[in-house]
Amino acid sequence: MFSKLTTPVLDRSKQIEYITKLMLCRRYSMNFEEPKGPCMKTEIPGPKSKELMKQLDNIYRSIINRPALGVYPGTDWPKRMENILKQVSPKLPKITPMMCGACSNENAIKTAFIAYRSRERNNKDFTDAEKKSSILNQPPGCPDLSILSFKGAFHGRTIATLSCTHSMAIHKLDIPSFSQWPIATFPMYKYPLEDNRRENEKIDEKCLEEVEDLMVKHKRHFPIAGIIIEPIQSEGGDNHASPEFFQNLQKLCKKYGAALIIDEVQTGCGPTGKFWCHEHFNLPYPPDIMTFSKKMQMAGFFHSDEITVKLPSRIFNTWMGDPGKTILLEAIIDVINTQNLLDQVNKSGRRLYDGLQQLQNEFPDMLHSLRGKGTFIAINAKGTDLRNQIIMQLKRNGVQSGSCGTEAIRLRPALIFKEHHADIYLDIMRKVIRELSKERKRKY
Ligand SMILES: Cc1ncc(COP(=O)(O)O)c(C=O)c1O
Repeated sequence: MFSKLTTPVLDRSKQIEYITKLMLCRRYSMNFEEPKGPCMKTEIPGPKSKELMKQLDNIYRSIINRPALGVYPGTDWPKRMENILKQVSPKLPKITPMMCGACSNENAIKTAFIAYRSRERNNKDFTDAEKKSSILNQPPGCPDLSILSFKGAFHGRTIATLSCTHSMAIHKLDIPSFSQWPIATFPMYKYPLEDNRRENEKIDEKCLEEVEDLMVKHKRHFPIAGIIIEPIQSEGGDNHASPEFFQNLQKLCKKYGAALIIDEVQTGCGPTGKFWCHEHFNLPYPPDIMTFSKKMQMAGFFHSDEITVKLPSRIFNTWMGDPGKTILLEAIIDVINTQNLLDQVNKSGRRLYDGLQQLQNEFPDMLHSLRGKGTFIAINAKGTDLRNQIIMQLKRNGVQSGSCGTEAIRLRPALIFKEHHADIYLDIMRKVIRELSKERKRKY
């Protein structure tokens, strides 16, 4: 059939359209069983083709024509958002689409501030003094509020998120910050967890005391309107905290009227073996706000009814999301469900974890502090130099792997990563560690 098609001379845009159609034809033709002979059942184009063309038209429109969703949402937009809320919302009733991780956090922070002030003024209208002072960056219109973040955190590189980011100097140098915003200590556990339970509980207690202290101290000047936290501090070194730590943090937020903002930009959409990492923590209530991006393709945040901003134009930008990315997300959610990818992540994660555990036991002078959920796993090398050597040798052996914090090698495979992929990785990792161990023994 395709051999009869000849490529006509077309301009570039027509060529792209022609190739796309040809690829679609091929794709569809591969999925059909070969008929015994020609057989016409309907007029041309038939009802199925018409329906498909309607659907494709919708998809092409979403990709070619980018609507300014804040002002002109398409007629299908509410349904698409409802569909995503229904399928993957962490029990929060509202979604606000955004453009990237930092942009989602930035607007989550603004939402927390607006909710805090609206509550303080009993949802009344703004005063004239507020309106006038706000134009000149002064209180009461621009109030002295703050967001509490944690040492080692990464929440993005925009101005407000950068004040909550504390992983690497290079992100922050030369940029003015909100210097009054408090920074608390994130729990840094001793591993293995089973052997250090009591000590790690004490670390939790100390960190929570520090948070409460900061909340009390800031009550008069720069009250804390929200706490932003990653469920696993990712760029900062794959630092984990216990479910009890998160449960108690939520209690403190409720006690002092601060919004709990959970940043699932890196952990969200399945890599920890649950769709959202914070589902591992059994929180009694959903967080007030949960941000997402990366694996989700589209970015944004889910939020509670109470915190929803009532007036237009306050949490806003031209695009307010991207329908093309939403179509991708719908397909991704479908694949995750139909192929049971969360189960797969747990199985592959177990294989990776067990293999790395064995390696850590064999080479305790090189590797330590294995930790992880699902395939979101990290292991520390003894020192930054050794970590960098391991990553370089992995690369030379064909394995791309990343680093985070000062000593961690982090694993971030795709959701389709299977057990046999884990075996390939573990074999190469073993070879690299064995060679480096020999080299170290020769040197010292
Ligand atoms: C936890 C977390 N929050 C926010 C961001 C910022 O996301 P983006 O790069 O899309 O602005 C990142 C990016 O790595 C991240 O890991």
